[in-house]
Amino acid sequence: MRLLLYTGKGGVGKTTTAAATAVCAARRGLRTLVASTDAAHSLGDVLGTPLGPEPREVEPGLSAVELDARAEVERHWGRIREYLVALFRYQGIEGMVAEELALLPGAEEATTLLGADAYLVSGDWDLVVLDCAPTGATLRLVTLPDVAHGALRTLLRLQGALATVVTPVAREVVPVPLPDRHVFQDAERLLYRRLRRLRARLLDESTSVRLVLTPERMVIDEARRAWTDLSLFELSCDAVVMNRMLPDAAVSEAFFADWGRLQEERLREVAEHFAPLPVLPAALQDDEVTGLERLAAHGEALFGARDPAAVLSSSPRISFERDASGYVVRLPLPHADPSRLDVVKVDDELVVRAGALRRTLRLPRRIAPLELAGAHFEDDALRVRFERRD
Ligand SMILES: Nc1ncnc2c1ncn2[C@@H]1O[C@H](COP(=O)(O)OP(=O)(O)O)[C@@H](O)[C@H]1O
Ligand SMILES: [Mg+2]
Repeated sequence: MRLLLYTGKGGVGKTTTAAATAVCAARRGLRTLVASTDAAHSLGDVLGTPLGPEPREVEPGLSAVELDARAEVERHWGRIREYLVALFRYQGIEGMVAEELALLPGAEEATTLLGADAYLVSGDWDLVVLDCAPTGATLRLVTLPDVAHGALRTLLRLQGALATVVTPVAREVVPVPLPDRHVFQDAERLLYRRLRRLRARLLDESTSVRLVLTPERMVIDEARRAWTDLSLFELSCDAVVMNRMLPDAAVSEAFFADWGRLQEERLREVAEHFAPLPVLPAALQDDEVTGLERLAAHGEALFGARDPAAVLSSSPRISFERDASGYVVRLPLPHADPSRLDVVKVDDELVVRAGALRRTLRLPRRIAPLELAGAHFEDDALRVRFERRD
């Protein structure tokens, strides 16, 4: 099963491109599901069919679903959230505020992804295309398995510290309400099964992110940052879609000539910056790209001889290299700013910080006992040295 995630700045054409990819792939014979994880759903409008939180067949071979974040939150975070609400209430934060707070930042996005996870493992689809929320939210979405992993592990450690027998007593004396065992059972289920599976799925070579851009400065800049950030979490991008390119017929007219030159320049810049990712240009259409026929034509023009579901390019992945004095962990981070990078080793984990983002990497068993001996940035990769302590 192949998983494609389309992301980019708001309004650039994520939903359109995701839907066009899905229609094109389905018509070429793949059992395809296109799912929207953006709370501001427009997938149904684009496909021209009302959609709901369960997959619905749009045409033979193609189904679509608008994942309902609220329902997913209830399903997956229900008990944990109840506990948090109780905890916030106890601290004097009442009613709605407590409920809102308990919707942990990122939880909503992550649970929509957990919702998609059920389709990923079902075996019903050859291709699942995710129409994601704008870049920032997508990043929270794909990094949450990592973040939640840490948070839930802390919860589980807390449980370890308070043996079940002690809990009723502790309830009397500890100044905060303690979660009951069901909370931990839910946490455990989330942590050990679904989040792990989801994390593995996102890092798998069958998953690719595609960045949707338009030839505009702010859009390009946001995509550049997104590429670096996604790399920190080992999500690989396999292509860039350059949407809303003025067609040749338009730029040959005097009025659009400057515009044409500018977009050519930006296209070159994007191709250079994002190399080795291929850049797929998509023309600005004379009307909105909605309905199956227009989407199919848009998809055909976008992919041409390419297979829309193929891995369109491969980028280097994290590697662990051995040399005479130890190991080097090499994490590709295209165009990262080295002055904003730092690393620290905590127990058997390597924590990499890139600006506001933090990635926790569990080290392989042969490296974990070694000492962090230094780090530097070279050839678009962070290299961290580990050596044996004498
Ligand atoms: N290549 C294109 N040509 C013409 N209109 C487009 C094109 N791509 C997107 N649009 C239109 O732009 C608007 C925003 O596109 P959409 O796919 O919803 O963006 P996003 O999902 O990134 O917010 C929609 O009205 C869509 O029909
Ligand atoms: Mg959209």
